[in-house]
Parts: sequence; C-alpha cells; structure tokens
Amino acid sequence: MATTLKKFVLPLLILVLSFVCTNAHHPLKMCKFDQIYQLGDSISDTGNLIREFPIGASTPFGRLPYGEAFSRGYIGDGTLPNNSTGRCSNGFLMIDYIAMAAGLPTLPPYKDVEANFRHGVNFAVAGSTALPSEVLAAKHIFCPVTNSSLNVQLDWMSKHFNSTCLNHRDCVEKLENALFMVGEIGGNDYNYAIFQGKTMDELRSMVPEVVEANMDGVRRSISFGATRVVVPGNFPIGCLPIYQTAFQTNISSTYDENHCLKPLNEFAMYHNEQLQQAIDKLKQENPNAIIVYGDYYNAYQSLLQFATSHGFETEKACCGLGGKYNFNLTRMCGAPDVPVCPDPHRYMSWDGVHLTEKGYRIMADWLLHNFFTKLNCHF
Ligand SMILES: *[C@@H]1O[C@H](CO)[C@@H](O)[C@H](O)[C@H]1NC(C)=O
Ligand SMILES: *[C@@H]1O[C@H](CO)[C@@H](O)[C@H](O)[C@H]1NC(C)=O
Ligand SMILES: *[C@@H]1O[C@H](CO)[C@@H](O)[C@H](O)[C@H]1NC(C)=O
Ligand SMILES: *[C@@H]1O[C@H](CO)[C@@H](O)[C@H](O)[C@H]1NC(C)=O
Ligand SMILES: *[C@@H]1O[C@H](CO)[C@@H](O)[C@H](O)[C@H]1NC(C)=O
Ligand SMILES: *[C@@H]1O[C@H](CO)[C@@H](O)[C@H](O)[C@H]1NC(C)=O
Repeated sequence: MATTLKKFVLPLLILVLSFVCTNAHHPLKMCKFDQIYQLGDSISDTGNLIREFPIGASTPFGRLPYGEAFSRGYIGDGTLPNNSTGRCSNGFLMIDYIAMAAGLPTLPPYKDVEANFRHGVNFAVAGSTALPSEVLAAKHIFCPVTNSSLNVQLDWMSKHFNSTCLNHRDCVEKLENALFMVGEIGGNDYNYAIFQGKTMDELRSMVPEVVEANMDGVRRSISFGATRVVVPGNFPIGCLPIYQTAFQTNISSTYDENHCLKPLNEFAMYHNEQLQQAIDKLKQENPNAIIVYGDYYNAYQSLLQFATSHGFETEKACCGLGGKYNFNLTRMCGAPDVPVCPDPHRYMSWDGVHLTEKGYRIMADWLLHNFFTKLNCHF
C-alpha cells in the first residue's frame, strides 16, 4: 500500500499540483511550445502591413489612436515600443495573449528586419486574403490594401525556414515544439466580395475555394515540419458595427437575440462548418499531426455574453463617428477628428471592424481553455 502511494499517488499529486500552479499564469506552459508561427490577416498582424509600401505604410494602423493602450503605460517584456505597432486594435491581439500564455514573448512581424525570430515569426498581413489577388481579380473582386495573400505568406515562411534550417530533417527537429496558427484567413475574401456588390449566393460559392486555401496552408505548414496546427474559423460577422451599419434594417426578424444580423452570422457558420469538415478530412490524411479548429465564432459569442452581463458597450465602436453603431465607412478610426471613447476597456469593438484589446483578451481566455486538451498538452 505504502509503495503504491509512493510510486503512483505522490507523483500524480505532484503532477496535478504543478499543473495547477503553472496553469495559473501560463495556461499553455504544459504544451512546451518554444515557437509560434502565425499566418493570417488583421486579426493577428503585429506589424507587417505598416511595413509594406506604398499603401500599407500610410494606413492608420501605424499611428495613434491604434496602439493607444501601449502609450498609456504598458510595461511589458521590452519588445514593444511605447507607440502604435501596426496592430489593428488599441492594444494586444489574441495571438499576443496566446504567446504570453505559452510563456513566450509577443510575436515579431516578419517584415521587421531587426526582429529576433528565435521564438517564431508572424507572417500575418492586415487586409490580406486566403485566395491570391489574381484569383479574386478574375471574379472582379479587388484587394484594396495588400496583395500579400496566404500563398505569399507561405512563400515567406518557406524562405524563412530555408534560411534557418540546414535541411528538412533539421527543420522537423527544430519545429518539434512549435505551434502553427493558420488563420483566421478568408474573412477579407468575403468582406471585399460583399462590399463590392456580390450577393450572398456568390459568397457561398466562394466557400469551398477559401476553405481549400486554408487547407493548403495547413498542408504546407506540415510539409515544413509542423506537428501542432490551429485553424481558426470566422467571427459572427453579423455582430460587427461595419456590417450592422451597412445592412441596417427595420425588419426585426433579420436580427437574432443578440441583435446581430442573422443572414451574415449564418454565412459565417456555413464557412466554419465547411472548414471543420475539411479539417476532419485532413486529420485522417495526417495522423501524426494534431490539427485543431479554432472556434472564434463561439469565443465571440461567449465574449458577447460576458460583455452584456458586465455592462460593456456591445454595439457601438469605441473609435468612430456617427449612426447607431458609431461607425461610418467614409470616416473610420484614425481619420482626422474621429473621436475615441475614454474607456475602451468597456467596449467590445475598437474601430467597428476589430475588437478592443479587452475583447481580444476575453476571447483568448476562452480559446486557451478550449485548445488546451485538444492540443494534447496533457500526458
Ligand atoms: C509614451 O509616450 C507618450 C508620448 O508619446 C508619453 O506621453 C507617455 O508618458 C509615454 N508612456 C510611457 C509609459 O512611457
Ligand atoms: C511612433 O511610431 C511612428 C511610426 O511608426 C513614428 O513616426 C513616431 O515617431 C513614433 N513615436 C514615438 C513617440 O516613438
Ligand atoms: C496588387 O497587384 C496588382 C496587380 O499586379 C496591382 O495593380 C496592385 O497595385 C497591387 N496592390 C497592392 C496593394 O499592392
Ligand atoms: C526552399 O528550398 C526548397 C528546397 O531546396 C525549394 O524547393 C524552395 O523553392 C525554397 N523556397 C524558397 C521560398 O526559396
Ligand atoms: C427605419 O424606420 C425609420 C422610421 O420609420 C426610418 O426613418 C428609417 O429610414 C428606416 N430605416 C431603414 C434602414 O429602413
Ligand atoms: C458618413 O460620413 C459622410 C462624410 O462625412 C457623410 O456624408 C455621411 O452622411 C455619413 N453617413 C452616416 C450614415 O452617418
């Protein structure tokens, strides 16, 4: 009996206790991630678009009020300036909270030539699409800010690994404990389509191609040596001020119980279902890789519940002007004389398109809980 206690129960107890302790500040610590690689768009860009010429460098994301939470006294790991960083929010993004939860520094953007990429690289570019811009152009969909679509980001990734690994085997060894985030990407393909006059049926017809582009991103990541990959889905876009403003209607049955536009949320769910089916198929083809769906849709719904019960502003953008949602497409956050709310931590939406750092933090907390067991971080 005593031996049993010594042999099994005590180690188990120590394991559980150490789990509980490490879990408190670094809930992903048990995953032992030593690097993170991110592909995606403005949901996760930490400074690539603002380093692109000519358009990216003149976007408002590299100027205050973007990043204003940093200039209000963020004392961090020294990797962030007291300034805007190119993040499309007032402060941190979900990927920052995920990196911190893994006990890693925030992810440097690939385009920052002075950055230290020891713990990973962020290839995400705000405004980018899952489909290449030529493919979208053939459908008469125009990419207004960048051509750095997912395939371009994957080429950067290939170039990066070619310069950091001696050969494929070396890469596989180096990436043994790396986390790959493939997306969210594809949201902009639909955003551009709908704001450039495409119908919901036309949007639906794009879903298989967009999902396939995501799967290509996973396959290529695995070909470089990835073994743990998260593939996030789309947000409930019918809840975002940009869509709420554009598709405002007096027909109350168009809204769900959270006052979000039903047809748009149904479309996001349709994309997410197709994405999950494709992930399931890819898992069968790659039994050695752990491929996890990132449920941004339900993380957002959970944030909405939290925000409602804590008296947050759930409909209006913090930084913006006019109308029911404090949003005007022709005068967005960052344009001259567009006001910023004094209490962004009580808002979900930062600029009508992207969330506040507070919103992202609450979503990231939900996701970290959700990912943890799925990433096989337990024994
Ligand atoms: C950040 O910079 C602004 C001016 O750009 C200054 O007012 C503020 O005190 C600085 N904050 C910190 C924490 O250094
Ligand atoms: C903040 O960054 C912008 C461009 O990235 C730069 O022009 C500006 O001087 C920086 N401000 C401070 C206080 O460092
Ligand atoms: C994207 O590529 C097209 C075609 O080469 C070009 O006309 C356009 O200026 C590019 N857009 C950006 C934002 O670089
Ligand atoms: C990386 O190396 C492989 C193998 O040599 C090559 O096929 C690929 O084109 C290279 N990638 C880039 C972006 O240069
Ligand atoms: C909704 O109804 C109000 C009052 O009847 C009207 O002024 C407004 O134009 C309507 N809005 C839309 C989007 O139909
Ligand atoms: C948006 O701003 C433009 C330019 O300031 C203005 O003409 C338009 O009426 C505004 N739209 C709304 C819905 O407030």
